[in-house]
Amino acid sequence: MKRGSTPVSTSKPDTPALQVRADLVFRQLFPSLLSRLSAADMDFKIRAGTKDDCKDMSRMIKELAVFEKKLDEVKTSHEELERDGFCQNPFFEFLVAEVPEEHKSKEGFTVVGYALYYYTFSTWKGRAMYMEDLYVMEEFRGKGIGKGLMSKVAEMGKKNQCVRLQFSVLDWNTPAREFYAAKGARDITEKDGWHFIRFEGQEFDDLAKSAPKD
Ligand SMILES: CC(C)(COP(=O)(O)OP(=O)(O)OC[C@H]1O[C@@H](n2cnc3c(N)ncnc32)[C@H](O)[C@@H]1OP(=O)(O)O)[C@@H](O)C(=O)NCCC(=O)NCCS
Repeated sequence: MKRGSTPVSTSKPDTPALQVRADLVFRQLFPSLLSRLSAADMDFKIRAGTKDDCKDMSRMIKELAVFEKKLDEVKTSHEELERDGFCQNPFFEFLVAEVPEEHKSKEGFTVVGYALYYYTFSTWKGRAMYMEDLYVMEEFRGKGIGKGLMSKVAEMGKKNQCVRLQFSVLDWNTPAREFYAAKGARDITEKDGWHFIRFEGQEFDDLAKSAPKD
């Protein structure tokens, strides 16, 4: 959990009229400084996602898809997330970032970010993990929440003896690519030439149908 410090104070307690005026002047003269200071002051906590968080995650999955200009590709519902994340052998785990009620979003949300991941296996290296999504709502970016989520995912992996954390990012998403690079991630497409390959839709059906009969 990131703990904030005392909010910016620009006034003396015994002069209320002056207090208000000084605050207004400060806000008008230094709006960007004020927003940076209040950003640093924000409390948030990262915790394991629960079934009750699936609605919020479903909303943010769509927000991320809008950001990635691929909303029409989202087919999952929150019911599906509840089913597949909370069955006997869950298909994924997730973390959410939550802010206190007083910092809720313009629309009234307190769950403002998420990271969804699952475990994989590398035949060369052993236990590994894959982060499917990392997302922070726009108005909460740049406050350390993304870093908090990603480092918590890594912590979970280390607890489970994973040797690496892998994920993909769209080529044009420069801010995210820079964010990952700044944290020490290596671009294995650029550096090692790995391509992402996928079967889906008709091609996936056809491949499955062509399997040798038992
Ligand atoms: C990418 C994203 C998850 C980052 O989360 P965030 O909360 O905005 O980032 P943080 O505030 O945690 O940044 C933490 C650190 O990264 C740095 N950072 C953030 N954006 C950066 C950028 N574009 N370039 C370089 N460093 C960056 C910050 O300066 C900070 O550095 P510090 O730890 O040295 O202080 C968030 O911006 C987001 O959701 N973006 C839209 C969706 C998206 O692109 N998701 C990833 C899809 S692959």
